[in-house]
Amino acid sequence: MAILTGGGDCPGLNAVIRAVAKDAMNCGIEVLGVEDGYLGLIENRFKELTPNDVSGIIARGGTILGSNNKANPARFALGKNPDGSIMYKDVTSDCLRNLRDRRIQALVVIGGDGTMTSAAWFARQGVAVVGVPKTIDNDIEGTEITFGFQTAVATATDALDRCRTTADSHHRALVVEVMGRNAGWIALHAGVAAASDVILLPEIPFSMTSLYETVLARAKMGKRSSIICVSEGALPEGGKQVVAKIDPTSPDPIRLGGIGKVIADLIEKDTDVESRHVVLGHVQRGGTPVASDRVLSTLLGNHAMTLLREGKVGRMVAVQKGCLTDVDLEEPAGKQRRVPKDEPLLQAAKAVGTSFAD
Ligand code: F6P
Repeated sequence: MAILTGGGDCPGLNAVIRAVAKDAMNCGIEVLGVEDGYLGLIENRFKELTPNDVSGIIARGGTILGSNNKANPARFALGKNPDGSIMYKDVTSDCLRNLRDRRIQALVVIGGDGTMTSAAWFARQGVAVVGVPKTIDNDIEGTEITFGFQTAVATATDALDRCRTTADSHHRALVVEVMGRNAGWIALHAGVAAASDVILLPEIPFSMTSLYETVLARAKMGKRSSIICVSEGALPEGGKQVVAKIDPTSPDPIRLGGIGKVIADLIEKDTDVESRHVVLGHVQRGGTPVASDRVLSTLLGNHAMTLLREGKVGRMVAVQKGCLTDVDLEEPAGKQRRVPKDEPLLQAAKAVGTSFAD
């Protein structure tokens, strides 16, 4: 069998690789790692995994296999046409040949919605594939939690706590921008955990007037600081998200980022409260997974092996209502699980006076 990690990395990938590979090896199955996600499958780059390779890696960040968030075998960017447009080719048959040549009978893919979409594509071509959902964003449809999320929340919470002490010293407003794409899960959880005064989410367009009111009211009450936790995908009412860059070769070309600076500059200009911004960026994706992510990764990896043993393929392992389960690999394709209006944590945050500037 082979294991592949696709998309952006996240804490806990190695813990899943370990759970899958050790179980397989203990059953006498030969395990190969695909290097750099679907790119390695296209370019026929595999490495044999030994018990030593997957030992001592549960706490290690990143992925020992490497990853790639651009290579989509059904629409692989080969280069540029003479007119500058991107030249695409379907290289699925190359991947199928590589799998056949190495006598790979089962594939475990660990990744986000894009990786699952390609996994579903391979399942339709007859490959025995099982998916394990990962992302710090926690936005994969079909599962209520992804590994990596709890580590990102812990990192963001620690940063928010640190920003509070420096902001307090200087009577400042500090805007902390966290990741999450179009879903506000990281901002909501870290914002609540660090008792942020304002939390801005992509799901709740914000009003600058309301934000100013909170910052000014706090200053008037003698509060020494205001901490604003903003999701990179947050947007003002009637406005647009701030795009950091567009990568035309990526299946998900838009990279969000920059809203934190916009908000901090406006607060300082319009309220006279001195403001700074911090962008946490990839710090949230790197480093060692927290204990709960290591446990979740181990459970999900083990469930993937159970499915393979039962011959239940074309499935993605998932958590629903706190229990391990599995869904069709097609389920997350092209979707994002966003914070719903009736999310209990929204209500709990409002009840303690947190503003969403709506
Ligand atoms: O999906 C994970 C994520 O970290 C998002 O939160 C973020 O918007 C994006 O990936 C960043 O992607 P890249 O690593 O390509 O800059």
